[in-house]
Amino acid sequence: MSPNHTALITGASAGIGHELAKIFAANGHNLILVARRKQKLVSLARNLSSKHAIEATPIAMDLAADGAAEALFDEVAERELNVESLVNNAGVAFSGRYRNMKPAQISTLLHLNIVNLAEMTRLFLPPMVAAGSGRIMNLASIAAFQPMPLMSLYAASKAFVLSFSEGLSAELAGTGVTVTALCPGFTDTEMLEKGEQKTGRNEAFRALMVMPPENVAAQGYAAMMRGDPVHVTGLTNKGFTTLTQLAPRWAIRGLGALAARERG
Ligand SMILES: NC(=O)c1ccc[n+]([C@@H]2O[C@H](COP(=O)([O-])OP(=O)(O)OC[C@H]3O[C@@H](n4cnc5c(N)ncnc54)[C@H](OP(=O)(O)O)[C@@H]3O)[C@@H](O)[C@H]2O)c1
Repeated sequence: MSPNHTALITGASAGIGHELAKIFAANGHNLILVARRKQKLVSLARNLSSKHAIEATPIAMDLAADGAAEALFDEVAERELNVESLVNNAGVAFSGRYRNMKPAQISTLLHLNIVNLAEMTRLFLPPMVAAGSGRIMNLASIAAFQPMPLMSLYAASKAFVLSFSEGLSAELAGTGVTVTALCPGFTDTEMLEKGEQKTGRNEAFRALMVMPPENVAAQGYAAMMRGDPVHVTGLTNKGFTTLTQLAPRWAIRGLGALAARERG
């Protein structure tokens, strides 16, 4: 894909999305940066456009709201921007016993992690197919490969993202449009910080399991540009997801239950 294409990145105000924006800009892509925190988007857009001579458009929006994907699609069309690369990165995780989750948390997670991602893909895909080229990347997780007690809803949402992305990737073969499911493991972002307060993970865990978001973003960008259907980041995570897929389901459920018991 040649430079000066436009990439739309959701969840660009922090974490993996923020790092992806920097990589896309460094590779000459114009950007549409979407999240709720407007100031963060505006300053990122300003920095990247002056550093890399690209155009960066910040759009502040709550993507968990009903109709958000359509509102965003309309706004992009109004600004006459043509999206050649779509990164559905915005996501939210809640951990703890499912029976204690608030209905509003359930609704936000399902809307952001699943509904918005599916609607965004449906809206931005047809122009890509018509043009005979395009790149879509959806943020799944290694959580997509097995059920996760105490994070059941989040893991299920990422299983959706993985299955949906792989199905669509095959459906689009020969169109010039590719779909990549990026599957990071633990990544050092605000999302992990919030989770860690509850689990109290130690230094040894961090050294072995936690990747910096810039590495995850770099691997994701490369996989997306190659058109890989699935990319698991990091060797430890690759090993883990390979084992998960080989082991019988009852064993994986058992391991998940053990891990959950340790976390309380
Ligand atoms: N961190 C990990 O360990 C990890 C592992 C595997 C997969 N992932 C996945 O990677 C993706 C990025 O995660 P991250 O770790 O970078 O998370 P993060 O640091 O918490 O950033 C999340 C991004 O999503 C945006 N966002 C959250 N709610 C939103 C909403 N309602 N509307 C619009 N934007 C919203 C946030 O911006 P605002 O707050 O400004 O809206 C922020 O830019 C997620 O899909 C996550 O599930 C993360």
